[in-house]
Amino acid sequence: MAISLELVLVLSIACFLHCGGAAVVQDVVTNDRPIIGVLAQEQSYYLHGKYPEENYTSYIAASYVKDVESAGARVVPIMIGKDRGYYKDLLKKINGVVLPGGATYFNQSNGYADAGQHIYELAMEMNDAGDYFPVFGTCLGFELLVILASGRGEPENRIRCYSYSNLPLHFTDDFRKSKMFSDTPEDVIDILKNEEVTINAHQFCIVDENLRAFNLTNDWRVTSYSDDDYGVEFIATVEHTRYPFYGVQFHPEKNAFEWKLSKGYNHSRNAIKANKYFMDFFVNECRRSLHAFKSAAEENEYAIYNFEAKFTGVLGSQHHEIYFFEPRGVSN
Ligand SMILES: *[C@@H]1O[C@H](CO)[C@@H](O)[C@H](O)[C@H]1NC(C)=O
Ligand SMILES: *[C@@H]1O[C@H](CO)[C@@H](O)[C@H](O)[C@H]1NC(C)=O
Ligand SMILES: *[C@@H]1O[C@H](CO)[C@@H](O)[C@H](O)[C@H]1NC(C)=O
Ligand SMILES: *[C@@H]1O[C@H](CO)[C@@H](O)[C@H](O)[C@H]1NC(C)=O
Repeated sequence: MAISLELVLVLSIACFLHCGGAAVVQDVVTNDRPIIGVLAQEQSYYLHGKYPEENYTSYIAASYVKDVESAGARVVPIMIGKDRGYYKDLLKKINGVVLPGGATYFNQSNGYADAGQHIYELAMEMNDAGDYFPVFGTCLGFELLVILASGRGEPENRIRCYSYSNLPLHFTDDFRKSKMFSDTPEDVIDILKNEEVTINAHQFCIVDENLRAFNLTNDWRVTSYSDDDYGVEFIATVEHTRYPFYGVQFHPEKNAFEWKLSKGYNHSRNAIKANKYFMDFFVNECRRSLHAFKSAAEENEYAIYNFEAKFTGVLGSQHHEIYFFEPRGVSN
């Protein structure tokens, strides 16, 4: 509703200026009420053990939701285990998708990877048709993007590594020419480059060789690297050269929103400031999508506000708060 109002307003201003004899205004119409989908993933054995009575089958860590919200967007949970029609309908109503990190395998049928594949393919179709539909993969979500681009064969196109540290980014020479970093404030770059502020928690990495092996170096532009705990250089940030698809191996959502003490997450003022940049950037990308729900009532039906996050940090989970869903994909 509000989107169409804004659109009408912008169009009428353009018309007013035009009719008044001024040059036609070519401003990009932006959507200042973006709604972003965050993909769920399979319930873990660990979490099932914490809620044995419940029939939860999937979850979203609330940190992803909060990160999107604090950048000025609302969230719709995207369920796993649905048919392509579900993803196709939903993507037409939302302005972008976040593929979160986590710990699920890509080989579970009708799981996170299958849902991610529908989203990835549909997003390419929409962008090919002249639409602008951004996708952001974090950690496992980033690995999934590369594995999907590699055709999802066996063995999976990623390597084993070990990285559980706060790390600086080693930017490539021309990273400032990328979409992700062309407008980043200099002080944010300084922090990312020189301070140990990006939170890593992964046993797999994507390295240059993974891109080369599948001829992906023209499609995916690497903008920074970090070193794992044994010195292996892995790709830390990447973007697609034609589509508005982005990947980060670290976890920008954890600095401000995950608090497990033993993990040693960096919560310094600079860490918070620099990591906030990534969702600010992505939500801004999503403002270029004019997809909309039919009405505010329909927005409300799909919104994450229909679910209540549980305080899982107190049960020992690495996630402080989690949204659970059951049975698989029960919500529309
Ligand atoms: C979980 O599913 C079982 C079997 O369908 C049912 O008996 C039980 O009530 C469900 N538990 C909850 C908390 O809904
Ligand atoms: C999926 O992959 C994991 C790790 O390779 C393996 O342990 C598991 O058995 C596989 N599951 C299925 C359903 O193939
Ligand atoms: C990559 O490109 C080369 C040369 O164009 C080709 O021979 C090779 O089969 C391609 N490899 C893959 C995995 O697509
Ligand atoms: C967090 O980052 C700050 C710089 O912003 C650094 O001084 C500090 O050592 C880091 N702490 C951890 C736990 O990595």
